[in-house]
Amino acid sequence: MSPAHTPKDSLKTTLCFSITDKVGALDDCLSAIKSMEISLTRIESRPSKTKDWDYDFFVDFDAVDAKQVQNVVESLRKHTKEVCVIGSDSKGGKCLFLLRKHQKRIRHVVDHCEKNFKDSVPWFPRKLTDLDTFAEKVLEMGEELSSDHPGAHDPVYRARRAEITRIAKTYRTGQTVPEVDYTEEENETWGKVYRHLTSMYPTHACREHQYVFPLLVQNCGYSDKRIPQLEHISRFLKDCTGFTLRPVMGLLSSRDFLNAFAFRVFYSTQYIRHSSKPFYTPEPDCCHELLGHVPLFADPDFADFSQEIGLASLGASDEDIEKLATIFWFTVEFGLCRQDGELRAYGAGLLSSFGELEYCLSDKPELRPFDPSKTALQKYPITEFQPVYFVAESFKDAQEKVREFAANMNRPFSVRYNALTQTIEVLDNKILRFAKNIRDDMKTLTDVLASLS
Ligand SMILES: [Fe+2]
Repeated sequence: MSPAHTPKDSLKTTLCFSITDKVGALDDCLSAIKSMEISLTRIESRPSKTKDWDYDFFVDFDAVDAKQVQNVVESLRKHTKEVCVIGSDSKGGKCLFLLRKHQKRIRHVVDHCEKNFKDSVPWFPRKLTDLDTFAEKVLEMGEELSSDHPGAHDPVYRARRAEITRIAKTYRTGQTVPEVDYTEEENETWGKVYRHLTSMYPTHACREHQYVFPLLVQNCGYSDKRIPQLEHISRFLKDCTGFTLRPVMGLLSSRDFLNAFAFRVFYSTQYIRHSSKPFYTPEPDCCHELLGHVPLFADPDFADFSQEIGLASLGASDEDIEKLATIFWFTVEFGLCRQDGELRAYGAGLLSSFGELEYCLSDKPELRPFDPSKTALQKYPITEFQPVYFVAESFKDAQEKVREFAANMNRPFSVRYNALTQTIEVLDNKILRFAKNIRDDMKTLTDVLASLS
């Protein structure tokens, strides 16, 4: 992937539109924009503060000219009456005439949007069901495949992939993840990847991955015969660390993806790579998720570490989200650690790619100690092996460092996850209750220690 190209004379435009919570409402609006051949550079949603609507959506794009902005607005109005242009670049005068033209009708929405857009921190999920908002918000490869995808020109593969992603599209919090009846061809592709990778784990994977893997065989149906089911794995992880899996259609934005970690939720794809290239995929698939990511989410320290990144991402600025996504990249995806004097892999991108798994432990790449403030600024390639890896001392140590990093981020509040209610508590007026919880926890700990002595 490469950054979206921005035309030299484009108008950076932000639109706000509001919808009611009904099936297909967002789809209709996004399809209207898509039909104009416009690529969105940002999409963000939040519960609407006006009583007439359920959600406000903010979308950014680079328009060719003011006429195109007007066309988008008119196209959107076929699906929702509340559409407004709330920002544009230095040539904004051209766009802002739209505001004046529709001034009466949308003034109150504009006021509301401008205030929210400029003054507030970015919206973030407060409760588990808020994650349902992201169900259809995929950046790319949701239903379309890029031209370099091995399955891009295979209509049977594309239809099958669309069939599987429908589960993610309709899945809602609390439901059982429907099982996929994988075909013989899909199971064979899985088997090839499974056999090759598991032969390398004893010498390349970290201690935690090796400890958990046999438990997945015993409890979740891991084998080279068939692809295990998300629901079985999710239940197992919940028992181990409280982590759960939910299906996803494709790539989410960094913000949406990281936010879910605050709730110990991992978005997992269910489809598998194309059978013509079992050892290559340009996107995450079930081999990457189930062999690379899942084993580590069963480890308590790694689960804590992952959640720490998620909590830091809630309400973070775009700039901080980029830094956290980079930290995520060099840890959860491509992290190395040193155990008993040996270098081992714990990143899912490594544990699901035997080429890079071999390479990362060779003397070719450069190794640096994990330090969030430096790691967050490191540039990295997406389509080739990493030239630089960061080595963590331990997951606990990495968690402490990320917590310290988050404390210094430009965010006017702190957050805490309440596991009992599965909600995020913003630590301002609730801080006294938090302090009381710590006191209670300390008392319990003291009592337990006393009973041991
Ligand atoms: Fe991943």
